[in-house]
Amino acid sequence: MLVLGIETTCDETACALVRDGREILSHTIASQVDLHLPFNGVFPELASRRHSDVLIPLIKETLAKANVAIEEIDLVAAARGPGLIGALLIGLNTAKTLSYAWGKPFVGVNHVEAHLYAAMLPLERVDFPAMGLVISGGHTFLVKIHDVGDYEFLGGTRDDAVGEAFDKVATLLGLPYPGGPEVERLAKGGKPSHFALRAGRVKGAPLDFSFSGLKTNVLYTIRDLKRPLSEEERAHLAASFQETALVDVVDKANAAAKKEGLATLFCGGGVSNNRRLRALFAERSSLQVHYPPPSLSLDNGAMIAALGYHCFIRSGGGHSLDMEPQTRIPLHPA
Ligand code: KG4
Ligand code: ZN
Repeated sequence: MLVLGIETTCDETACALVRDGREILSHTIASQVDLHLPFNGVFPELASRRHSDVLIPLIKETLAKANVAIEEIDLVAAARGPGLIGALLIGLNTAKTLSYAWGKPFVGVNHVEAHLYAAMLPLERVDFPAMGLVISGGHTFLVKIHDVGDYEFLGGTRDDAVGEAFDKVATLLGLPYPGGPEVERLAKGGKPSHFALRAGRVKGAPLDFSFSGLKTNVLYTIRDLKRPLSEEERAHLAASFQETALVDVVDKANAAAKKEGLATLFCGGGVSNNRRLRALFAERSSLQVHYPPPSLSLDNGAMIAALGYHCFIRSGGGHSLDMEPQTRIPLHPA
């Protein structure tokens, strides 16, 4: 089954053709970093406008790259949420329109579930149950995966997502958007033990996360110095923050796996790109951790097309064109 996948949840317009949930024929991304850079974050209305300008040419490019004709496509899939409402509307309505015009079925895919599936996508065989960890700009949670589409929530953030904390700390350190990779770069030259920072604990919920206190910790550290940070101190603070946040993620994943008796972890979302995170899993965990390939760890259309295939099967033939976008969706089958 050949699936066209469309992703417009936030600040990347992305598109892909994927066969049977695994084989990527082509995959294209139009990044909007240039557009949002002056605002130091995503400007939602501008994101929507850029999606509507570039999506149709990008779909044409994706088909041309794979040398695929419209007649060969079996299913149109789009991210139906979570994300920015205006941005979601562009991708979802385009997918529904193409589905109607081409006479092909349509599915709306949960973007966060797709981030998790991106770590399974390259594997020929996945044994369940396994652990799932999503660490992105909007989400941070742990699940037990019983099957694709069948998740048991184990713990999640009570406030900021870990990627959001990276982005906010980047701003405090005077780094440009998108902040996560910038903090990682700066942290490379710093000492993680230089500043004593504390990760958030949620009373009575040892597998839940809280990152807003850690972010405030960074803010107060800067304020209490009562002078501009030296270059070395900026690097030390980036490293101390990164280490504290990522050790917290790794240790809670370990605790969840121990509680559930699981040995394999699938890790998805933008923060899974972080090299220090991967090193910490290798150093502090006996879990076998699977990450998405580098091109699939940030927002992309291939994860939408690939999971779209499974959504088609589990929905028994596709979703209604009445499906609405959703800015928030719990992780369960759409
Ligand atoms: O999964 P994603 O592309 O979008 C969402 O669905 O949220 O994740 C984007 C988030 C941003 O917060 C970004 O700062 C963070 O992932 N991120 C990183 C790194 N690369 C991206 N955070 C830490 N280290 C990185 N290397
Ligand atoms: Zn995402």
